[in-house]
Amino acid sequence: MESTPFSISTAISYPNAQPHMGHALEFIQADFLARYYRLQGRPVFFQTGLDEHGLKIFRTAERAGQDPKSFVEDQQTHFRALLEALQVEPDRFIRTSDADHAEIAQALWKRCMDAGDIYKKTYRAWYNVKEETFLGSADDIKDPAVFNIDEKFIELIEEENYFFKLSAYTDRVVAHIESGEYDVVPGNRKTEILNFAKRGLQDISISRERSKLPWGVAVPGDETQVMYVWFDALTNYLTGTSSIDEQGIKTNEFWPYSIHLVGKDILRFHALMWPAMLLSAGLETPKQLMVHGFVLSEGKRMSKSLGNGVDPRDALAMYGADALRWYLLKEIPSMDDGDFTMARLGEIYASDLANDYGNLVSRVTSMSKRYCDGAVPNVGEDAVRNLEKALVEEAWPRYHSHIEQRHIDKALEGAHSLIVFCNRRIEECQPWALAKDPEKQGELHELLYELIEIIRHVSVMVAPAIPGVIAKVRKEVFTSLNDEAFYSSEWGKTVPGMILSPESIILFPRIEA
Ligand code: MSP
Repeated sequence: MESTPFSISTAISYPNAQPHMGHALEFIQADFLARYYRLQGRPVFFQTGLDEHGLKIFRTAERAGQDPKSFVEDQQTHFRALLEALQVEPDRFIRTSDADHAEIAQALWKRCMDAGDIYKKTYRAWYNVKEETFLGSADDIKDPAVFNIDEKFIELIEEENYFFKLSAYTDRVVAHIESGEYDVVPGNRKTEILNFAKRGLQDISISRERSKLPWGVAVPGDETQVMYVWFDALTNYLTGTSSIDEQGIKTNEFWPYSIHLVGKDILRFHALMWPAMLLSAGLETPKQLMVHGFVLSEGKRMSKSLGNGVDPRDALAMYGADALRWYLLKEIPSMDDGDFTMARLGEIYASDLANDYGNLVSRVTSMSKRYCDGAVPNVGEDAVRNLEKALVEEAWPRYHSHIEQRHIDKALEGAHSLIVFCNRRIEECQPWALAKDPEKQGELHELLYELIEIIRHVSVMVAPAIPGVIAKVRKEVFTSLNDEAFYSSEWGKTVPGMILSPESIILFPRIEA
């Protein structure tokens, strides 16, 4: 069993509003991968959290008539509640207002400063407050209408700030991405970012005047400035995996990250600025950047004005965490845009979950009750070996390989096709007819054994996606198996004669929409 540590982070969300379906998708994808690698026996660290500083939060708090600290204190409860309801279990929920974060962000700043990569300069630039991004120099671009962004989000910044020499890192960052040392997936995102970077990177402002923005991490040695929110935010990844000692920043066994998982809109910050900051500080760069797409509704971006958004809490209230997780993981392409509607969630709940998986488990447990006194049939070792072993043995490497390629959707489709296979087999073999014929008892028992054993394998495959229901199956159906046997991908670990769930089991009750 591989014992290399695995670490994964999501982007940290802006808590200016309630969490939405896009946040839910990212939390769930990361949680799936964390659970998957845990099942592989690897030590795992999974971090998510909140990006609490910056102009956007400061202004939103002001409008709400609150000071920023108490505003984010209130807002964080919504994100934590959503994570819990989604059964997303991070090892750390980081907030950029945490005390240890300020310490690490300042230590990283000092290292970039000592490397000669931070300098001060007066400049004039257009700024997009909504996305906390610089749009371009106001000396070169006179009319911000060219940006085609609602002008209420655009501001002119005219300040003396600290700059980071991003331009000096163009070649090294390009080389890291090109060689795969920093592996950007999917490939089209890698091409996109390389094309952009090869045109040359520009230095970037990394601080703001405290007199205009008092809400942020103090720039070390300069009380008049706070850090630009992206310098502060990106450092969250380091905070969760390091500490400070006499020598400075000390990273732990989870550094560098195995995967940073982010949405396509923040690709540049993660693919370019972040590795450049780390190279400047003499730290290792992350191994992979996995870029997911957007959750759409009927092909359009979910938005308040279109009224096409679905609040994840409404979906959870109606269908529960397992169903929402299954939908977001299997129906939305893992690294591309995908559509979400409540109606489709209802269909998926009824078909994939209630009909296919739920019914399979309840049919098979009730057949074992009816035909085998509630036990796994006592088939001989030879029979066990000769059953549909090959099917499962071929399915596992495919499943693992899809996940290594970050196609969680395809891995789950594969597992689902095994479920469909079992249901078809029941229809074809008609166990109820076999049961009537004393000469067909052996055949009936072998069929049942095969179905139970495939259910076990499929359940392990989908466990990182629908942990709630699989915990139930593990506890109530496979009661007498120990963890090692239950989670094994070897054929034949279900013990003949073992007692299965004594009652028939309903995993996904019918829901009237
Ligand atoms: N605070 C920054 C990230 C800093 S990371 C050092 C931010 N926050 S956000 O709240 O706007 O977005 C958080 C994550 O959600 C991002 O990865 C973003 O791409 C993702 N999504 C936001 N809207 C989305 C959809 N509609 N669909 C899927 N994910 C999207 O950016």
